[in-house]
Amino acid sequence: MIDPKTISQFQKLETPFYYYDLDLLHKTLSKIKSESEKYGYHVHYAVKANANDKVLETIFSQNLGADCVSGNEIIKARTHGVPGSKIAFAGVGKTDKEITTALQNEIFSFNCESIPEIEVINELAGKMGKIAPIAIRINPNVDPKTHKYITTGLNENKFGVNHWDFEKLSKLIPSFNHIKLTGLHFHIGSQITDISVFQELSQKINTISKWFEDQGFNLQHINVGGGLGIDYENPTSNPLSDFKAYFKAFNDHLKLKPNQELHVELGRSVVGQCGHLITKVLYVKEGLNIKFLITDAGMTELIRPMLYQAEHQISNLTSKLPHQTYDVVGPICESTDVFAKGIDLPGSKRGDLLAIHSAGAYGEVMASNYNLRDIVKSYTNIELTQS
Ligand code: LLP
Repeated sequence: MIDPKTISQFQKLETPFYYYDLDLLHKTLSKIKSESEKYGYHVHYAVKANANDKVLETIFSQNLGADCVSGNEIIKARTHGVPGSKIAFAGVGKTDKEITTALQNEIFSFNCESIPEIEVINELAGKMGKIAPIAIRINPNVDPKTHKYITTGLNENKFGVNHWDFEKLSKLIPSFNHIKLTGLHFHIGSQITDISVFQELSQKINTISKWFEDQGFNLQHINVGGGLGIDYENPTSNPLSDFKAYFKAFNDHLKLKPNQELHVELGRSVVGQCGHLITKVLYVKEGLNIKFLITDAGMTELIRPMLYQAEHQISNLTSKLPHQTYDVVGPICESTDVFAKGIDLPGSKRGDLLAIHSAGAYGEVMASNYNLRDIVKSYTNIELTQS
């Protein structure tokens, strides 16, 4: 819920902008910590979900590790005080420059996605006189039951090493002098709301890690990736994901060896609900059997509805008039620039403020300046109460 005092602050600001509720973020972080600490699990925050400095400052003040997918994310995490020893680095296409950055920062783990990538890491580490700790990212062929664009762990996806390469890989690894296999990594998809998927993943991991152990590898850690979903339909009444059930699923189903660490890489479930996109109604336009609310935010600020058919709840913060049905659309010259179709909102007029909720994850980070628009700004509740 956004309170009336905050709404009156919004009215003084130029729209569109992201608004982050850092109190909710703190609450989310403390739940994650208490539930993961029960089992001694290591939590990395997936920087890709939201790299806003004020958000990162809050997250990393809680001593989480980082999950990075680029050299720049590694540098960003380091500037927020994350030690290299808590950084995991994933991605199917790591460049030589990024690998070098990671080696310089002595990261926890390169999560490797192919044999050619491991060869390059070995070569670059050799040139620097280092030994790179690697985890093999495995494609376990588990259906995460989510949108196909955010499914990563099926055989047809480009991510991870498939079972038909295990034999070859296990023979090659000992021949590389500048890498050390320290673990296995899995990430099967995002916005997973069915906890039984993590049970299935755990069972697959048990089989796969046993196979690697049988080949003589000592796996110091298992990294199960991220993926825990949020409630896009009920952001106000259900702002926290079920972290209890999530961590319990691994505790109940994943067989860890004594001293073997479990790592997770949560993104969306950390930041998703604390962010709202605040936008103004520019025009109310009569369409064919529908009224369009044309907003000053569009797919340049939040692309999820256009890219993944994502449904974000929308509120009119400034009208209490009887409800009407609207299509909420952005100003961009693209027919797909639609936030929601046929939704009920209080009667709306030019100048009303709308909030698009659950926009903290993969919102601001995916913004662009297409149409040469300004890059979207952001504010936190702390800044607004101080002003
Ligand atoms: N680890 C790896 C290796 C990943 O690729 C991802 C996300 C995560 C962790 C974090 O996953 P999360 O806990 O956030 O589900 N832009 C899309 C989501 C892309 C997810 C990419 N990978 C969206 O807006 O739905």
